[in-house]
Amino acid sequence: MTMNRRDFLKKTAALAAAAALPEVAKADEALKAIEAVAAEDVQAGQAASDASGKLIISAPMLQNYAETSMGIAFAVSDMANGYVRYSEKPDMSGAVTVKCGGFRVTDMNEHVMQIRLTGLKPATKYWYTIGADRIAYKGGYDMKITGNEEDSRVYSFTTAGKAANAHFCVINDTHAHWNTFSAATAKIANLAPSCVIWNGDATNVEESIDSQVKIFLMPEQGRDDFAAEIPYFFCPGNHDSRGMANRHLERVWMYRQPEERSSRDWDLGRNFAVRMGDIAMIGLDTAEDKLDTNPLFAGLFNSGAYREAQTEWLRDALQRKEIASAPYLVAFCHIPLFDPNPKSNPGDLDPADVSPDYRGDFASWQRTCANLWGPLLAKAKCQLVITAHQHRYRYDEPDKTRPWAHMVGGGPSLKGGGHATVIEGRVESGKLIVNVHSLEDGSIQDTHSFAPRRKR
Ligand SMILES: [Fe+2]
Ligand SMILES: [Fe+2]
Repeated sequence: MTMNRRDFLKKTAALAAAAALPEVAKADEALKAIEAVAAEDVQAGQAASDASGKLIISAPMLQNYAETSMGIAFAVSDMANGYVRYSEKPDMSGAVTVKCGGFRVTDMNEHVMQIRLTGLKPATKYWYTIGADRIAYKGGYDMKITGNEEDSRVYSFTTAGKAANAHFCVINDTHAHWNTFSAATAKIANLAPSCVIWNGDATNVEESIDSQVKIFLMPEQGRDDFAAEIPYFFCPGNHDSRGMANRHLERVWMYRQPEERSSRDWDLGRNFAVRMGDIAMIGLDTAEDKLDTNPLFAGLFNSGAYREAQTEWLRDALQRKEIASAPYLVAFCHIPLFDPNPKSNPGDLDPADVSPDYRGDFASWQRTCANLWGPLLAKAKCQLVITAHQHRYRYDEPDKTRPWAHMVGGGPSLKGGGHATVIEGRVESGKLIVNVHSLEDGSIQDTHSFAPRRKR
């Protein structure tokens, strides 16, 4: 997307204002300025609409990569009931049809079709097509199918599992910056990983499902099918809970199936512990960057209990056989679990996130999560935690108190010190190699390798 003169002037002014501040405040102010402009961009652009009369208006997106299940979501322009046909054969012979929704009723709606395929074989390639029935709904006794549309393309995906190719990419803090997202998806298409972890702050403040559809299913970039054959995970960032629509993000980005977790973890639909070749991947949600007690949020957020619930989930997930036996353990979450700067706001400054000893009024890193999850990850010999949020790439070597390495992905811009990154991890010659690709100039700006945590 090209930037018009108004956008250019706004962004330049915002960055110039931030640049004039003292050094300690600069990073926080620049982050706020960029995110405020990004939020306006999305609202000004608004959203999923289609003048062609087509019912299916996006390519499918593979959501929540897993060993024996796969989520498939796509956008529609009218009341519809969607379905997926899938087969182990490229000619679609013996295809099985799965409709959206679960028991009792199908999930008829006019925005997003979500179909989760279950009972799949691990590390297996499947071919699939998508389709939807157009529904005329006039009341509880007056509904009919008035048309059908199918995407003619046959797509494919490969499930996770011990025999899958151990290769991931991470993007973060895209904040609906379409030019950055476009560069990221081009790099990912080139690298062709088995999966992508979208590590939060995909959104800004979303008040409508249409703007969420635009961000996740119809982003303005050159590859409509960016997630049609490469599955994505989502670790939400603080922004992904803001705005009325984001309080129900699951309407656009589905939860895992209830049967994929215990009843205790019923509400933890986004956490993942998935084996991909020699890598076990753990997904956590650091939630808001403000305390639940911060008056700004009027007591309408519940991050504290959420983090503690995830701790119990994590403790059990790390002991699952396929996770415990993996040579490499990598965890992902949005807000950093470490910061070497003693002035960085740790997110636990009760009650309103401010203290004269720290800068800013929101969490720069998450000390509560680090205290809850860090020891469990250390005990499990986790080699690396990949985070985001600070809009500037950083690598923190392990130390005596923190045996896992810590990496922070870049920001939403294509230029400057906070430029965007694609972090790529793959197992090669008995090591986990992590390359950090700069989206400013395409170079590999940093690289690290990790030995197996135990003998295979
Ligand atoms: Fe961000
Ligand atoms: Fe963030």
